[in-house]
Amino acid sequence: TDSYSLLILPGDGIGPEVMAEVRKVIDWFQANRGMRFDVSEGLVGGAAYDAHGAPLSDETMAQAQAVDAVLLGAVGGPKYDNLDFSVKPERGLLRLRKEMDLFANLRPAQCFDALADFSSLKRDVVAGLDILIVRELTSGVYFGEPRGIFTENGERVGINTQRYTESEIARVARAAFDLARKRAGRVCSMEKANVMESGILWREVVQKIHDEEYADVELSHMYADNGAMQLVRNPRQFDVIVTDNLFGDILSDAAAMLTGSLGMLPSASLGAPAANGRPKALYEPVHGSAPDIAGQGKANPIACILSFAMALRYSFAEAQAADDLEAAVEKVLAEGARTADLMGPEGGTPISTSAMGDRIIAALAG
Ligand code: NAD
Ligand code: IPM
Ligand code: MN
Repeated sequence: TDSYSLLILPGDGIGPEVMAEVRKVIDWFQANRGMRFDVSEGLVGGAAYDAHGAPLSDETMAQAQAVDAVLLGAVGGPKYDNLDFSVKPERGLLRLRKEMDLFANLRPAQCFDALADFSSLKRDVVAGLDILIVRELTSGVYFGEPRGIFTENGERVGINTQRYTESEIARVARAAFDLARKRAGRVCSMEKANVMESGILWREVVQKIHDEEYADVELSHMYADNGAMQLVRNPRQFDVIVTDNLFGDILSDAAAMLTGSLGMLPSASLGAPAANGRPKALYEPVHGSAPDIAGQGKANPIACILSFAMALRYSFAEAQAADDLEAAVEKVLAEGARTADLMGPEGGTPISTSAMGDRIIAALAG
């Protein structure tokens, strides 16, 4: 079999703690399923800043461009909050996304039955939930120019620019429609065409791509504020949601709580389809570095482990392995294994990050 090259960037806070559990999973697949991973490790975020004064070195950037897939833990933390904007840990992550051109960010939100009571919403609203948010990741207000803090008429003004080209909208729309075809076949596109020109263009282009290339998929449009409301009112009405960078950031955090904990949500960030079937790709949990619990062995490693499952699925076409890993996670949750973030109404004794990893390995083997 050919080998899969992986660059692991654990990052800051709980990043290295949850990544250690992914390492165990990688080792297990190598030892038991005959897969070969060519793993290298690098620095990103505050860890990279501490080592060389920048949140991502050019060498690490080049490595990320060369591998089949990048796995990232999390970046940021209070220690770095007062750094100059240009060297903040978050800039390292944004540089990876932008330079690798990872325009399609897949953020699934699935509610495992064992956790349906832990959601801040009622069980009957979230049980069985399985939605996929496709967030545009390399444009919009995150990257638009002009941007900066300027002085105008004797006072400062902070400026960011929401900007989308037709081709940027079209490519993320195609990604969403392609994914919907493998799911329930429905896409809901969210913008604010009622107040933003970029929203008007977004809606037009998504509709056109649909009519010309994906008429078999069901398409609807929603204003993003209504979308936020609908997401907590009746989230199961959705299959795939496609939206811009900033709305997608916010809507996906809201979707996270539907599943019980931010510690459960994985993500994949993909570039254009590649001839060898392996698009540029970066996999990371949706959560951040969780400074409040870092270094205490309390972090839930499931989001990071499920991100690796997405790598198996989208970068390596190892669908069976991905299914098995997801099933192992579901099994340990059904058995009652809980990290501290998953202490729901029933209470109980939480297990550590590494104990959760071990349980998942045992379930894989079992
Ligand atoms: P956060 O996601 O780090 O934490 C929010 C809350 O969720 C905290 O109470 C935390 O303890 C909890 N939590 C998050 N992940 C968890 C896990 N795996 N297990 C158990 N509990 C978990 O968000 P924040 O506090 O807003 O941000 C902290 C830092 O992380 C900031 O510097 C922010 O910029 C950065 N951040 C990074 C990423 C990323 O690397 N992709 C994403 C979001 C935030
Ligand atoms: C996320 C994070 C990032 C974002 C930050 C850390 C740059 O919140 O991945 O959702 O805003 O995209
Ligand atoms: Mn976010």
